Amino acid sequence: METLTGMERTANCGELRISDVGKEVQLAGWVSRRRDHGGLIFVDMRDRSGIVQIVFDGSTEGLDFAKSETLRNEFVIGVRGKVRARSEDTINLKMSTGEIEILVEELRVLNKAKTPPFYIQDGVDVDEMVRLRYRYLDLRRPEMQRNIMLRHRVTKIMRDYLDENGFLEIETPMLCRSTPEGARDFLVPSRLNPGQFYALPQSPQIFKQLLMVSGFEKYFQIVRCFRDEDLRADRQPEFTQLDIETSFLNQNQILTIMEGLVKKIFETTLDVKVETPFLRMSWDEAMTRFGTDKPDLRFGMELQDISEFVKGSDFKVFNSVLENGGQVKVIRVDDYANIPRRELDGLVEYVKIYGAKGLAWIQYTEEGVKSPFKKFYSDETFEQIKTATGCKTGDLLLVVGDKASVVAQALGELRLEMGRRRNLIDADKLCFLWIVDFPMFEYVEEDKRYKAMHHPFTAPREEDIEFLLTAPEKVKANAYDIVLNGVEVGGGSLRIYRSDLQEKVFEAIGLTHEEAHAKFGFLMDAFEYGTPPHGGIAFGLDRLVMLMAKRKSIRDVIPFPKTQSAIDPMSHAPSEVDDKQLRELSIKTTVKKK
Ligand code: AMO
Ligand code: AMP
Repeated sequence: METLTGMERTANCGELRISDVGKEVQLAGWVSRRRDHGGLIFVDMRDRSGIVQIVFDGSTEGLDFAKSETLRNEFVIGVRGKVRARSEDTINLKMSTGEIEILVEELRVLNKAKTPPFYIQDGVDVDEMVRLRYRYLDLRRPEMQRNIMLRHRVTKIMRDYLDENGFLEIETPMLCRSTPEGARDFLVPSRLNPGQFYALPQSPQIFKQLLMVSGFEKYFQIVRCFRDEDLRADRQPEFTQLDIETSFLNQNQILTIMEGLVKKIFETTLDVKVETPFLRMSWDEAMTRFGTDKPDLRFGMELQDISEFVKGSDFKVFNSVLENGGQVKVIRVDDYANIPRRELDGLVEYVKIYGAKGLAWIQYTEEGVKSPFKKFYSDETFEQIKTATGCKTGDLLLVVGDKASVVAQALGELRLEMGRRRNLIDADKLCFLWIVDFPMFEYVEEDKRYKAMHHPFTAPREEDIEFLLTAPEKVKANAYDIVLNGVEVGGGSLRIYRSDLQEKVFEAIGLTHEEAHAKFGFLMDAFEYGTPPHGGIAFGLDRLVMLMAKRKSIRDVIPFPKTQSAIDPMSHAPSEVDDKQLRELSIKTTVKKK
């Protein structure tokens, strides 16, 4: 095999332009595609910067043409040659290098390649398991390279912006203490302390607060976080946060700095205009209007309440819902009164996934109203509903009655589904908003107790503190989420900074004084030594870059992600380990070895 010695690279494939015509260049990269026209061979040559066409002409003096005939896809080559303009009829304006080509004078084959399991090009239709098994080849595909480069640019801008705004990048431990609340921890056994475990951080939450106690005032870190949760397209067991904490700033000041950051990221990398300040919507309003705390505002189809029109009839379904304190709500699908019956049946099944017991509808057709509950109501009632919901003839209402949380989830999801099916979502739109005034707690039926909705270090609103122990459901938190196009890309809060209030919140979520001190004593101790008012936020870097790259899964913007079952099909992690390793760690598994 040959080397590059004496023919080191002087240019990048994707950067050559018509203005370079006549230059002698030395390129290094991969064979992306090869077309053999007898005495003339065309190769698309690829490096990180892009693709350029190189030409081997059998009549070129001094060229070992036979060698160029051995080239196959993904061979690594070095070439020396001259940039020349393509003839008029062979110009390819779809390629940034499409006006030129390189006439090769010398070729070196630096390495051969086996036939790859899939084409190294954009938009390949291969099973994701195969892509992950050969991730190093998948990452060689230009679109994956672009995603990873975009990710680099985003983190670079984050660092620059935060540095300019007085933030310090500070590291926090990866081997931490396991604490209750939050998701399940990943544990790491301690060899030196048999029977004891570290936990990998779910986020640097407590450490960043302690850095505020230490007086650093403005902290950030681009940091890996670990959560042993069930995985989805936008959830990985290890993911990256841009983690931020500040002292002495109020909520509005924090949100404003973050808006500046987001604006800068998007405007610099995507060349789009981002208007600030972002819309701020209370959690209550988001749930009422969209059925979710992460509404996609790229389209309407808001939830509307028709309880007042359908109450007190002979229709048992709605009656029992309303008598039990529930509600009957609708979404309006414009110009779709003629929805096929088969699709309606499918939608009934769809809402059941989200806990609804059923789905009804009103079709305002040219021939009149069609509805499964038509016989229970007067024409006048259907007219009132039509006016109240802004329907015109030809529109469809989809109806769910249940307790508020079920209606919200079922109709919220149905809204998204109908938005997609009816093509109402403009993929080029960016709809940012802040969700504010979150409830402090949510009730967990399973455990018969309240749990912090964000986390237990979040400060309750001043005026609600009196209800912490008497009516926790009433308490709102100084917490905020940033939402982009229906995805929660970040969340944070103002924090508690007094130990008496922290203790009260622990009590509200059912931690006794002893438990709280056993688990979080160090934090409460710290609060006794002059803790400044502080607050912060964490962005999900993977989700942010996913949306910027217009991908559907965060796996496409993470170099080496895990599958839905949390495995790495390439390196085969996790794996069994030697008995000796386990013995050293004083660990015995209860799983029988295969
Ligand atoms: P939170 O738990 O809301 O807040 O996380 C912040 C952001 O991280 C992203 N995220 C995830 N991304 C991929 N995979 C996951 N499994 C995953 N889990 C969360 C989301 C989310 O908005 N310490 C607090 C922040 C704070 O209060 O300052 C925290 O971790 O985009
Ligand atoms: P059922 O009495 O379950 O046969 O329901 C009669 C009709 O009421 C069904 O065809 C549905 O259209 C509608 N329906 C049932 N449950 C609900 C619900 N939770 N919300 C809205 N409509 C419902």
